[in-house]
Formats: sequence, C-alpha cells, structure tokens
Amino acid sequence: MAYSDKVIDHYENPRNVGSFNKDDSDVGTGMVGAPACGDVMKLQIKVNDAGIIEDAKFKTYGCGSAIASSSLITEMVKGKSLDEALSIKNADIAAELELPPVKVHCSILAEDAVKAAIADYRQKQGAAA
Ligand code: FES
Ligand code: FES
Repeated sequence: MAYSDKVIDHYENPRNVGSFNKDDSDVGTGMVGAPACGDVMKLQIKVNDAGIIEDAKFKTYGCGSAIASSSLITEMVKGKSLDEALSIKNADIAAELELPPVKVHCSILAEDAVKAAIADYRQKQGAAA
C-alpha cells in the first residue's frame, strides 16, 4: 500500500517529537493505544496562562500513518484554545494526509490522544485549584 506524499513528509520529518515533564502543572499528557494494531501514541500539550496551547510534543510507537497523524495534529493544536483543539476531528487529519480507509484508525488515535491530553490537563488544573 502506498503512502501519500504528505504522510511520507511527516513520517520522514516528524514535527514536535519529544516530551515534556508530565508532572508540570501546565502540561497535559494523553496516552492512547489502538486495539486494532497495538500501536501506542503519547501526546503532550503545554498550556499558557491564557488557556492557549503554546506547544505540543509526541512519541508514537506505531506505523507511518500514526506518526504522520501525530506530527500533523501537534502542528494543528498549537495556538489553539483547549475547546478549539477539542473540535479537531480525525476526519480532518485523514483528509489532509489522504489516508486510505484501513489507516483511518491511525488518525483516530491522534484525535483521541489530544482529547486525553486535554482531559489530563483539565483534571490537573481542577486538582490544583
Ligand atoms: Fe503495526 Fe500500525 S499496525 S504499526
Ligand atoms: Fe495502527 Fe496505524 S495506528 S496501523
């Protein structure tokens, strides 16, 4: 199966690979796995005082489409509010990367990872308040 040029670009030059300290209060961490294939994605957001995601990083143990999806979504969430980031749909990623149907679950992993990271951040803020 052929990968699209955009997948190959993000796969060969992934944006924002790495991690933040998950214990920092301005960091949210999402860790999700895909039951279909066993791939795992960790995605983290760093949120500023105004509630804007100022940075994002990921580590993905998975296929090229999963890496490309996480690379793309870290770019998409930067500069967005939490609510704006929550509205990103896996279909946006799948369309941008031109993922074939069997690889759509890779983009769902990225959407779920962002949602999990935001939930973690919000829970930490609630706990700290
Ligand atoms: Fe094996 Fe995604 S199915 S890496
Ligand atoms: Fe399973 Fe891509 S995340 S094949």
